[in-house]
Amino acid sequence: MRRKISVIGAGKTGATTAQRLAERNYADIVLFDVVEGLAEGEALDLLESGPILGFDSNVTGVTVTEGAGYEQLAASDIVVMTAGIARKPGMSRDDLVTTNQKIMRGWAEAIKQHAPNTILIVLSNPVDAITQYAWHVTQFPRARVIGQAGVLDSARFRTFLAQELGVSVQNVDAYVLGAHGDSMVPLPRYTTAAGIPVTELIAPERLAQIVQRTRDGGAEIVKLLKTGSAFYAPSAAIAEMVDAIVYDKKKIIPCTVLLEGEYGMQGVFAGVPVQLGANGAEKVVEWNLNAEEKAGLAKSVAAVQEILKVMGI
Ligand code: APR
Repeated sequence: MRRKISVIGAGKTGATTAQRLAERNYADIVLFDVVEGLAEGEALDLLESGPILGFDSNVTGVTVTEGAGYEQLAASDIVVMTAGIARKPGMSRDDLVTTNQKIMRGWAEAIKQHAPNTILIVLSNPVDAITQYAWHVTQFPRARVIGQAGVLDSARFRTFLAQELGVSVQNVDAYVLGAHGDSMVPLPRYTTAAGIPVTELIAPERLAQIVQRTRDGGAEIVKLLKTGSAFYAPSAAIAEMVDAIVYDKKKIIPCTVLLEGEYGMQGVFAGVPVQLGANGAEKVVEWNLNAEEKAGLAKSVAAVQEILKVMGI
């Protein structure tokens, strides 16, 4: 039987994620949305690109209503949650919390009921807190509830560094940990261009500017778009995570997971290096962070805890 991946939300991120995954030809895709016909329309259009692009993935869409549609989640190997409202200029990710929490609640309950063995990847913002909330409602093991933030933030950092150094993005390896927001923790010390730490290649003041642009990466795009937020790079980040799971890669990438004592923190979701494989977040990898990096991570986790208070968990 072919694998099944459900993508919740057929908006910009959901539809682009569905496209990237369908084109990989390793799973059938089901798109869900509350807007009548949107998921079905996006799915059919995508499906009809199959003969041209050479994929056999089946792509279907489901409009969910109060009581119906959720059962189509059954037998999903992976569920990707993108439903929610996106930022407008001037809004922070945290401003989305109340609306997106409500949307996550309905879906987390449905996932628990209809796809109790699935791996859930969450993208809806503020992602660290919304992922924690999804875990809180589903009570899934931590390996199966994973937030996407670090892959995206690291990709932004890599893009800016490659531009600065005039080298291929593939030469730049970078890691951004912590929460997906102003308190994120880019790690220049662990960031290299063809194996050389960028701290040896770029002056500290310039590096600080690039770090700041990375922190503001989402807002820079929101400001330009005016009516929504980024979706090409976020959906690419999800596809990298899904690849690692589908191919059981054991790939170490920054993901948002529940910390159970790692990095000295307990009971809170934050971005850390995680080994992703067939069972989901199989292992949290502990790096030897220096005092400044540890303090950055602690500050980031404290920011997530503030949002959790607003959410009432
Ligand atoms: N169930 C399913 N779909 C829903 C629900 C719901 N309860 N509520 C809203 N949606 C759908 C909307 O109808 C819309 O099609 O979610 C989709 C969101 O799409 P966009 O508005 O295009 O937003 P997008 O850019 O995809 O961002 C989605 O990802 O990056 C984050 O902050 C961003 O939380 C936001 C999410």
